[in-house]
Amino acid sequence: MVILKSPKEIEKLRVSNRIVADILCRLEDEVKPGVDTLYLNDVAEKLASEKDAKPAFKGYKGYPYSLCTSVNNVVVHGLPSKKQLVEGDIISLDFGVLFDGYYGDAAITVPVGKVSRTAMRLTRITREALYKGIEKAVPKRRLSDISYAIQSYVEAAGYSVVRIFVGHGIGSSLHEDPQIPNFGKPGMGAILKPGMTLALEPMVNEKGYEVDILEDGWTAITKDGGLSAHFEHTVAVTENGPVILSERNGG
Ligand code: MF3
Ligand code: CO
Repeated sequence: MVILKSPKEIEKLRVSNRIVADILCRLEDEVKPGVDTLYLNDVAEKLASEKDAKPAFKGYKGYPYSLCTSVNNVVVHGLPSKKQLVEGDIISLDFGVLFDGYYGDAAITVPVGKVSRTAMRLTRITREALYKGIEKAVPKRRLSDISYAIQSYVEAAGYSVVRIFVGHGIGSSLHEDPQIPNFGKPGMGAILKPGMTLALEPMVNEKGYEVDILEDGWTAITKDGGLSAHFEHTVAVTENGPVILSERNGG
């Protein structure tokens, strides 16, 4: 069941998502060669506690950390560790909080120092694909118009869209209906209505879309070893079009 939110609830979601956006901004500044991902997790926890926000992922289905740190061929749910980042890596940072009863959830992929042109392009195409999806988050369109917009943009660029993870509704739960695949034919699924709040999160692979899960039960890697990128925004569908609730200062 899709839960529609009142303007008041959307304001609460905005507050939570702003906290996430600000923390991701601060984490991005910390990303450099020599830094380990457990340090980034600890910074995220410290910043969240300064805002009285509860990290949303820690303990969620047993996830052991607050931040997901997915480096290079890791698609999503990379576990923070003492392993240091090296120049040329790309890292996806996925973070969520619970504040005043509502969740924030967003992700960015950032380069570590100077990275290859391919890594830069994959990152850019993934970010742009997210925005192609957001553009379609308007009343009277259908859910799969978002999916189709993302998939067609990604595939036209020569990359592939991960199938086994999807975007989701978000509100007083981290994951609500509907599920939002990043692929599919247009014109299908639920009709979009004002008050829907959606976490759109394309995961894009340089080569094939297939994914393996490591023994730890979390880390998702590309089957073929290709690079992967991930961007996520929480978005509200309104009469006036899509509103990005996890927008960072300056975009
Ligand atoms: N952004 C991801 C999601 O919405 C992060 C979840 S990580 C988990 O599914 F640990 F909480 F599962
Ligand atoms: Co999410």
